[in-house]
Amino acid sequence: MEDMLLLIPGPTNLSKRVREAMAGPQLPHVGAEFYSMFKETVGLARYVFNNEKGTQFVFTGSGTIGMESSVVSLVSHGDRTLTLSTGYFGRRMLMLNQIHGARADHLEFTGGKAGDPDTLRKKLRKAKYSVVFITHVDTSSSVLNPVTELVEECSKAGVLSVVDSVCAIGGVPLDFDRLGADIVFTASQKALAGAPGAVLIAASQKAIEHMEKRKAPIESYYMNLLRWKPIMEDPKMYLATPATQVLLGLREAMFEAKAEGIENRWARHKKLGELTRSKVEGWGQKLVAEEGHRADTVTSFWVEDGKAGPIQKTLEKEHHVMVSRGIYDDKDRMIRIGHFGILSPEVLRKALDSMGSVMEELGAAPKRVAVTKQRAKR
Ligand SMILES: Cc1ncc(COP(=O)(O)O)c(C=O)c1O
Repeated sequence: MEDMLLLIPGPTNLSKRVREAMAGPQLPHVGAEFYSMFKETVGLARYVFNNEKGTQFVFTGSGTIGMESSVVSLVSHGDRTLTLSTGYFGRRMLMLNQIHGARADHLEFTGGKAGDPDTLRKKLRKAKYSVVFITHVDTSSSVLNPVTELVEECSKAGVLSVVDSVCAIGGVPLDFDRLGADIVFTASQKALAGAPGAVLIAASQKAIEHMEKRKAPIESYYMNLLRWKPIMEDPKMYLATPATQVLLGLREAMFEAKAEGIENRWARHKKLGELTRSKVEGWGQKLVAEEGHRADTVTSFWVEDGKAGPIQKTLEKEHHVMVSRGIYDDKDRMIRIGHFGILSPEVLRKALDSMGSVMEELGAAPKRVAVTKQRAKR
C-alpha cells in the first residue's frame, strides 16, 4: 500500500508532514495543547473558506455529516425544500431531505449537464421553498455547477441555500463571504489533503438565526449545529470526543494549503484538471460532464461496458496507481480519476501515461501506432 498513488476521488495522498503530525502520541481532547491546536484548525478553516463573517465549524464526521447536519439543522418536518442534483451526491441530499420529513422537490440535470440558473429561477417563482440544496462538484459525474449564479438566484428569491462543496474546496475557487450561501461544507479527505474523519462547515448569520428561531426543535444531538457552535468558540466545553489525530493531520494539511496560497492551489488544480481532460480525450474517451462545467478536482469518463474493472485492476497491479470506477449502475462503464490535494502535474502526467498504456493494452483506447501511421500519410 505504501507506494500506491491514490487517484481516487478521496481519500487522497497525504504529505509526509501530515502523516508525521498524525503519528505522534495520542493527543487528549482536554488540555492546553488540544485547545490551541483546535483554535488554530478553526482559524485555518476560515482561511480556506474565506469565512470571516460567518460561523466556522470543524468536527468529527465524514462529508455525509455535513450533508445531514445541514438538513437536520435547517429543515423542519413539512418544510418545502428543493434539491438541485447533477449526480449521485445530489440525489443523496434529496434522500436526506425525505428522511428528515421535508416536502422535498427535485430539480435534476442528467447526462453531464450542469444546473441551469434560469431553470432554477423559474422553479423558485412557482413555489415557496425554505431551503435549496446545491452540489458544487458532484463526484459521480464530475459536473461543476455554476454555484455563484445558482446561489444568486436563491438569494434573490429570499431562499436559504446550502452548498455541498466536499469535492471542491481547496481545489476549486470558493469564497464563502462573497458567495452569499447560508451553509457551505467540505470534508478533510479531498482537496484539503487531510485524512478522512473531519467535516468543515461555514454558516451565515442568517442560517444561525433560522436555526435559533425555528419552532420545532432540531431533531438530533450530534448533527445539531447549534450545539456545536459554542464548542467552536470554546473547545474546553464537551459535546463528544473529537478524532484528535485526524484534526492534527487536518491542521497540518491546511498549514500547507496556506503556505501554498489558496489561489495558487486553485491554479495548480486547474492545471491538473486540464491535463487529465486532455489525456482522456487523447485516448478517444468521452468525458461525462459537458464542456464548460468540468471540475478540476475529479474527471469521469466513459469506457466500453465491462472495461472499467480490468482497467482499474491492471493499473493497480502493474503501475501502483489507484483510480475509481463509476458508482452503482456505472461501475463497469465509467472511470473516475481524482486529481486533487498535494498532487503535482508531473506526478499526475506520469500516472496518466501509465494509464494510457493500460487502456491501449486492454483495447480501450486507439492504438498509438495507428495514430502515428495516419499522421505519416498526411
Ligand atoms: C460531493 C460529495 N458530497 C458528499 C460526500 C460524502 O462524503 P463522505 O464520503 O466523506 O461521507 C462525497 C463523498 O465522496 C462527495 O463527493
